[in-house]
Amino acid sequence: MSIKVIFAASEAAPFCKTGGLADVAGALPQALTSLGAEVTLLLPYYRAVAESGEVVEPTGIKFEVPVGRRIIECELFRTDSGGVDVYFLKRDEYFDRSELYGTASSGDYFDNLERYTFFSRGIFEAAKALKISPDIIHSNDWQTGLVSPYLKDTYGKDPVFSKTSSVFTVHNLAYQGIFDASLYHVLNLPRRHFGLAGLEFFDQICLLKAGLAYSDAITTVSPTYAKEIRTKRLGFGHDGILKFRKDELHGILNGVDQTVWDPASDKALPFNYSADKVSGKKSCKAALLNEFSMKKTRAPLVGMISRLVDQKGFDLIRKSIDDIMSLGISIVLLGSGEKRYEDFFRGLVTAYPGRVGVKIGYDEALAHRIEAGADIFLMPSRFEPCGLNQMYSLRYGTIPVVHATGGLNDSIRDIREPDANGFKFKGLNGKKLVDKLAEAVIFYSNKPAWAALVKRAMSDDHSWQASARKYLSLYEKLEELLHKK
Ligand code: ADP
Ligand code: GLC
Repeated sequence: MSIKVIFAASEAAPFCKTGGLADVAGALPQALTSLGAEVTLLLPYYRAVAESGEVVEPTGIKFEVPVGRRIIECELFRTDSGGVDVYFLKRDEYFDRSELYGTASSGDYFDNLERYTFFSRGIFEAAKALKISPDIIHSNDWQTGLVSPYLKDTYGKDPVFSKTSSVFTVHNLAYQGIFDASLYHVLNLPRRHFGLAGLEFFDQICLLKAGLAYSDAITTVSPTYAKEIRTKRLGFGHDGILKFRKDELHGILNGVDQTVWDPASDKALPFNYSADKVSGKKSCKAALLNEFSMKKTRAPLVGMISRLVDQKGFDLIRKSIDDIMSLGISIVLLGSGEKRYEDFFRGLVTAYPGRVGVKIGYDEALAHRIEAGADIFLMPSRFEPCGLNQMYSLRYGTIPVVHATGGLNDSIRDIREPDANGFKFKGLNGKKLVDKLAEAVIFYSNKPAWAALVKRAMSDDHSWQASARKYLSLYEKLEELLHKK
């Protein structure tokens, strides 16, 4: 009999997205389904879902979710996404808002604890209403951190969930969902869970820690990051519990949704191309330079698509920008985030006329055009749990230059290593970054060698199949353990 999985996430492509979690939640359930698992994806019904253009329909199913002293009614909506049943928990009071988690001007929404308590508890009520008795509930990041304590405490005794194990995936340990202890009543969990072994973190409520403490298995999105988060430097205060739970912590590298990211069929591109017929890539570069009114150039075009936050290493770029530009390159950047970085990149357009193109904002189709039109993709992240753009870049023959951390370390092999697919520097400082980028620029001038590198990068296999198989065998192991009990 196939394994039944409920996959709970706070965002998933193509319905609602702020970052890589959405790409994973959009693709992994489909990959698991193609391997024979029976997966149901549960998401909040945000305004973005209604505006996504996807056909999402009411089911007529309603149920109630206790949140603090209130009993909140929820309505289920549904669609199918690549063979996966997707259900949306609709409660406009919580989710009919302009953004998913908060706004740039006012910060996180004031009631995020209540919103994601409702969603996490709603997962169980939805499963019951849908008559799904799951073998696995797989939750992701702090927004669904409460799923595991609810399974252990509140719903584990319910026959519907008596054979259910929990998996919690950390996509980024830096985002923790921390709330004031005075709000503990919202959760309706006994007081005993607010302790060192539970969801207390420096006298506050930490939803990420709820996932870390109560899940039967913890995964994160690359093997290197699974090691890094057990250190003081990248443990963000959770290295202790992660060391303690080392045997239940697994690093599984994300994959690429090859139907969405395929230069041979990508509708967002002005020209399509493949590893065997790569000439369209040159035309994509010319079109991209033209789109940004930049000068034609024989030098490499460096692309960046990112949230503009410290994690992504923009301070290094800012400090070293003169040395970077003295390499003769041009830059196209698409991103949004911290104002100081937005201002910095806007300023570059005038500081280096014709050589820098910048779009501040979020633009899915442009992201694809940059992946295709750039020669080099720069990703000097301070830390990177997995990172997806370096893998999209490989597929589009855009050679990544990356800092050796997390998933960047696991997916990119430096030019000096056998079977290289990119450039990778160790040691996080501006000089190392500029030296590595310089190495890539020099390599670029050797046309046959660069063409061979592009071909090799494009034939790297980062499909979801291999990773989905690892999740599946983890699910099966948990099932076996439960049956032995
Ligand atoms: P993270 O989740 O930390 O932001 P990832 O590399 O895992 O980093 O995933 C980022 C995802 O978000 C990619 O699909 C990337 O193309 C997309 N993305 C980031 N910023 C933008 C933007 N401004 N416009 C369009 N897509 C973006
Ligand atoms: C997070 C991480 C990123 C990862 C993504 C999907 O947003 O910052 O590195 O690729 O989640 O797992």
